[in-house]
This record gives sequence, C-alpha cells and structure tokens, in this order.
Amino acid sequence: MTTNQQLFRSQGYLVLEEFNTPDECNALMKRGEELAGTYNFDGHASVFQTADQAKTSDDYFIHSADNISFFFEKDAFDANGQLKTDLFHSINKIGHALHDLDPLFNAFSRSSAMKKLAAELMLDEYVIIQSMLILKHARVGGNVDIHQDATFLYTEPVSCIGFWFALEDASAENGCLWAKPGGHLTKLRTRFRKKETGAEMQVLDNEPFSMEGMIPLEVKKGTCIVLDGLLPHCSLPNTSSRSRQAYAIHAIDRNANYPVDNWLQRDIDELRGFS
Ligand code: FE2
Repeated sequence: MTTNQQLFRSQGYLVLEEFNTPDECNALMKRGEELAGTYNFDGHASVFQTADQAKTSDDYFIHSADNISFFFEKDAFDANGQLKTDLFHSINKIGHALHDLDPLFNAFSRSSAMKKLAAELMLDEYVIIQSMLILKHARVGGNVDIHQDATFLYTEPVSCIGFWFALEDASAENGCLWAKPGGHLTKLRTRFRKKETGAEMQVLDNEPFSMEGMIPLEVKKGTCIVLDGLLPHCSLPNTSSRSRQAYAIHAIDRNANYPVDNWLQRDIDELRGFS
C-alpha cells in the first residue's frame, strides 16, 4: 500500500500540496467569472444552504444536476428582493455539471495529475458525478454546516469520494475546510432524497455531529484535498478581506447501486471517469 493509500484509509482525507499550478487555478477562476457573466438572472433566486437544503430545494436546484447553474449567498438580497452587490459577488456556488459541459473544467477534472491520483487510489471503476465552483467571496462567503458528502451522493455500499481543489490560499480566516482525522469511521447520518417536488432529508442515524477534534485544513493555492464520503467536514464563514475560491468534484463507484430517488439525477452508465 502506498503512503497516500494508507493515510487516506486511516485519516479519511489526504492533503496533496502543489497538485495544480497557480496558472491552472487562475484560469479556472477566470472561467468561473465568465460563466457567472452569462447568467441571465431574471429574478429567480436559488440559494444554497446546507442546514436547510430540504426546504430550499426547488426545481432549479434539482435540474442543476446536468447543467451549469448558479446559487446565491443566503444574504445576497435586501428586504426589497434586490441584490445588495453585483451579481458575481452575490453568487455562492456554480454547479453541478461543469466537469462535463465546460472544456476547461473538464480538462481540470481529468488532468494528468488526477489520472495518476485516481490510479493510485484504485478508482478505475469510478465516475465523476458532480462538480462545483465555490466562490466564498470576501466578507460575504457563508458557512457550510458539518455534513458528509455521501448524504448527497448516496450509493449502496457508500462509495463517494470528494476532491477539493484550493484555487486560492485557504486559512481559518477566509473559511478553509475543517475535519477530524479519522472522523470517517462513523455512520452515515442522513440521506438527501428527491420527492415528487423538491427533496427531503431522511435521517438514518441520530448521533449528532460535533466540532470536537476537528482541525482547520489550512492549505496553499494549488492543493488538492481528497475526502472520504463519510468524513464529517464543514467550513466557517469568510470574515476576511480575501476570497477563498475552491473547485470540488465528487466521484462514485459505477458498480454500486445508485437509488432512483437520489436528488442528483444522472444516467450513471453515461458518466465518465477520470480519463
Ligand atoms: Fe462537502
């Protein structure tokens, strides 16, 4: 077993420094801003909130599975429903099929470094099912509550793996990831299921999440953090004057059962892996 394999198995995450070059990170952020500029915002607002995702899941959210959609910060609007700042700086994240629809995001998601890492982690049978650009703007970037990624990308057995790419330096001040080493050795708490309209959170295990033992994963631009789908993790609000952009992709084992009522509706047989 390689060191990375051992660490991933024992810690539930891996921190891989200098995984991407600064130029690759800059190009992705530039493309994100260009995409945001194409968003024809017509007054419909979809907000991203982990705590209340079941309540805020509308058709726009459900249909983001196979296109490029835009989600606002929860405090982006004033009492009159007007954006408090410009469109780009009001957006929380862009998702969830950037990796399949945009050439630059495709190339980043399937880079030679990713191919090598996927081979090392023995992910030959894995497919990329979701991608998102998380903007976490200076002073307005909101928190992400403690969660497990397998909640949103449930398979039987659980197989979800996340890859989180720091496009900028991430510190405790600008809202880096937090996780507890070994925290993945736990049960899946919830499962996010599609309903006839919207979605709901199904409780599988009542043990509450806790910040106890969680540490800030402060990383430099270009770092890739690999996350086990069962690892509870979170991020705090960005209270600093620097943004903390990150790109994340999630992959699942194509041979695991993908329930038909998962919120993210894609044809697994048509999804591609890392090549
Ligand atoms: Fe996550």
